[in-house]
Amino acid sequence: MVIKNITEDITPSNDWELYSLSETSRRVRMSEVGANIGPQGVDMRSLYRQAGVFSYDPGFANTASCESDITYIDGEKGVLLHRGYSIEQLCETASFPEVAWLLSHGELPTADEKAQFEKGLMREAHLHEQIRNFFNGFRRDSHPMAMLCGTLAGLSSFYGNQGADQRHKITPEEREESTLRLVAKMPTLAAWVYRYSRGLPLIYPRPGLSYAENCLHMLFSMPEAPWEVNPVLAKAFDKILMLHADHGQNVSTATVRMVGSTGVNPFVCIAAGVAALWGPAHGGANEAVLDMLDEIGTPENIPAFMKRVRNKEDKTRLMGFGHRVYKNCDPRAKLMRNICYEVLNELGIKHDPRLELALKLEETALNNGYFISRRLYPNVDFYSGIILRAMGIPSSMFTVFFAVARTAGWVAQWKEMLESKVGISRPRALYTGPAFRDVPEKEKQS
Ligand code: SDX
Repeated sequence: MVIKNITEDITPSNDWELYSLSETSRRVRMSEVGANIGPQGVDMRSLYRQAGVFSYDPGFANTASCESDITYIDGEKGVLLHRGYSIEQLCETASFPEVAWLLSHGELPTADEKAQFEKGLMREAHLHEQIRNFFNGFRRDSHPMAMLCGTLAGLSSFYGNQGADQRHKITPEEREESTLRLVAKMPTLAAWVYRYSRGLPLIYPRPGLSYAENCLHMLFSMPEAPWEVNPVLAKAFDKILMLHADHGQNVSTATVRMVGSTGVNPFVCIAAGVAALWGPAHGGANEAVLDMLDEIGTPENIPAFMKRVRNKEDKTRLMGFGHRVYKNCDPRAKLMRNICYEVLNELGIKHDPRLELALKLEETALNNGYFISRRLYPNVDFYSGIILRAMGIPSSMFTVFFAVARTAGWVAQWKEMLESKVGISRPRALYTGPAFRDVPEKEKQS
């Protein structure tokens, strides 16, 4: 079957025509769906009705599941834009709250909008006191992502008009309030998950601290010794949050949009996103990178590790490398490496064995035919864990803070999906099971 742009041989138009090479030689005309930049789309919505066939794209690598104004990625050129601004410029000039506002509202905030938004984030940073009881159901050694996912879904019984149809029964103001509450409450929930796992007293958000400062304050302050604000570390943490804020239709964001299309409470949608993010192929990779570096141990062991990676039977992957979209370097990885140097320098860490090993590993991989031929480059997860560990954050908490940051993108995408006219998501499948058959007669009872 051939899809052909019919512009060149019939009246100039943006229509496409599908030719069937089978004996039926069916022809289906579909219109082009325009993107502002990047690949255009072929509108397949009438395919089944016109031709009785499905488009087939397992894993959706060639499928645009929506139209979105939020994030643009050019995987060939290593470009990442949020509402048209490059991640490099945003990392240089904006704060995480400003980028969170940009993602949800389309423009960077004015000074007044920024002040109001930060005031709202502080006002909503607290959690209902009964949430403290949720943790008691978890073992202390539960993975923090399990606790985050479970308690976040439970927050839907406190916030977000739990049973209301989010598409038809709530006002835009209520929707806006839910997005604010989710971005505001995630750092407190993340910190409490950590404190509970350590048996430490829960710390409350402190007025006057920035979003990033409060993340670190609620993690590390002790009743007798509040966390001392370190502006360099706080700024680095703010940038790390920003670099994780949104990334188009990755698995967890697509999950949030799909779950949200049922009209369910936004806290449950974000909990579904947290669940998807946890996977080691996705957001869980940052934790896996540290485990991998600790397993390799020293640069002398790199050749043996690379041999295992190249051995298909071994199923060993170089975590923090490769990407479904980037076939060039992930722009966030370069920015993350710069932040790594800033943080280690601020902490007076002259030789971080993990960083030295990671740099050697990256250099080896980038000069290795296996990686070059498969266009595998470092992604956002390759350096982030080294920084977070140096800041005193345990690797089991890395994906938790990935989720804190990504909540800004998830709520923006959830809102955009609800405001679009697209209804409930419902993919189909090519049925490959047994054709119709009768249930065999039961063996006559002897
Ligand atoms: C994130 O999508 C997003 O936007 C996600 C994200 C975001 O911000 O939301 O960017 C965050 O999830 C980043 C990715 C984090 N994951 C990892 O670092 C885990 C390690 N990487 C991979 O498992 C893998 O690269 C994926 C899952 C990320 C992407 O997989 P692809 O593009 O589907 O690649 P593939 O599995 O089809 O592999 C193609 C080939 C295979 O070899 P062959 O069968 O052709 O011989 O490349 C090999 C793979 O074995 N390969 C790797 C590899 N990644 C791919 N080999 C060794 N190490 C790797 N990391």
